[in-house]
Amino acid sequence: MKAVAVTPKKENSAHLVEMEKPDLREIKDGRGVLVEVLRVGACGTDREINNGEYGVAPKDYDYLILGHENFGRVVETGENVKELRKGDYVVATVRRPRGSSIYDKIGEQDFTTDDKYYERGISRLHGYMAEFYAESADFLIKIPPAIAEIAVLLEPLSIIEKGLKQASDIQERLKIWQPKTAAVLGTGNVGLLTVMALRLRGYEVHGFGKQAKKDYLNAELCEAIGATYDSTDDISIAESAKKYGEYDLVFECTGYSPIIFDAMQSLNENGILILASVTGGDRKTDQVPSDAINQKFVLGNRAMVGTVNASREHFEMGVKDLALCEAMYAGWLKRMLTHKVEGLENYAQIFDILENSSKYKAIKAYFEVNKI
Ligand code: BGC
Repeated sequence: MKAVAVTPKKENSAHLVEMEKPDLREIKDGRGVLVEVLRVGACGTDREINNGEYGVAPKDYDYLILGHENFGRVVETGENVKELRKGDYVVATVRRPRGSSIYDKIGEQDFTTDDKYYERGISRLHGYMAEFYAESADFLIKIPPAIAEIAVLLEPLSIIEKGLKQASDIQERLKIWQPKTAAVLGTGNVGLLTVMALRLRGYEVHGFGKQAKKDYLNAELCEAIGATYDSTDDISIAESAKKYGEYDLVFECTGYSPIIFDAMQSLNENGILILASVTGGDRKTDQVPSDAINQKFVLGNRAMVGTVNASREHFEMGVKDLALCEAMYAGWLKRMLTHKVEGLENYAQIFDILENSSKYKAIKAYFEVNKI
């Protein structure tokens, strides 16, 4: 079968490889499932891996099959798989419990404390940019056919669900927390999914991006579901808090780390800032009003939390939000799927779109590997 691979740490090394079709008997206990890949989304992580910034090949391989935003159809199941059957749609989670930390052992590998982690398509495990993959049913989420068209968005949404779950868990400290307003920093695909998830929870949502609002599809999508959009060239996040009021929750997903200090100054008393950008660079900033920020955090019991990856629970929350979003804002999610690339052999197109997303006005580029 065909697959798209990179040579980790080598710039622009994406290439096609020919591999043996996986066999579900590779998975022990009769829990194996063979999945035909239908769609695979591409994101900044794939771009950074292809830029040679990170990514680790599996043991005994000198290449890594890319792809973690997946959607597929079950072809065959092992004898101990009772919850899935041939023809079911599924999305696989990304991280596997291969580490030695207590969190790996209790199935909470998204909270691993190990330095080495195992993520399909990213680190030490092959990903889903392939015609088939085999996986244990334990890591597969069943997808209702009604959301098949947009289910490739589930993996990025799971990241947001985990962030929001962490926020609500932390806020249990307050006994009563009735958040009303939120700011979402960044309106790329992760930002837009965050705007959506918060609108579904009834927040007044303010989205912020770099680009000017005029003729900007992402801004239009924010407004289509009742959020505002502002360009940070016109208003800083801290200034926006004077205009809209301080936020109960701020979700950062710009990939631009200096903005977090601005965000820290825009939080309401008892508010929470969620950081979700994996910033692999070495940017530094010294323009930080540290006394003011520190005092605000201390006197207002504010909180900040980093969040990465997601567990089965967060994927399942995401399935419900995708379905609810379709019910409330029919067709909105499909508008995010701006660029379809047919066939894995056209991988160069995907990387071109990722590198030049503003030129292409791309929100989500994805492979259609097989028809739904
Ligand atoms: C993926 C996560 C992963 C993270 C860090 C993100 O793009 O969606 O599953 O944990 O990268 O590797």
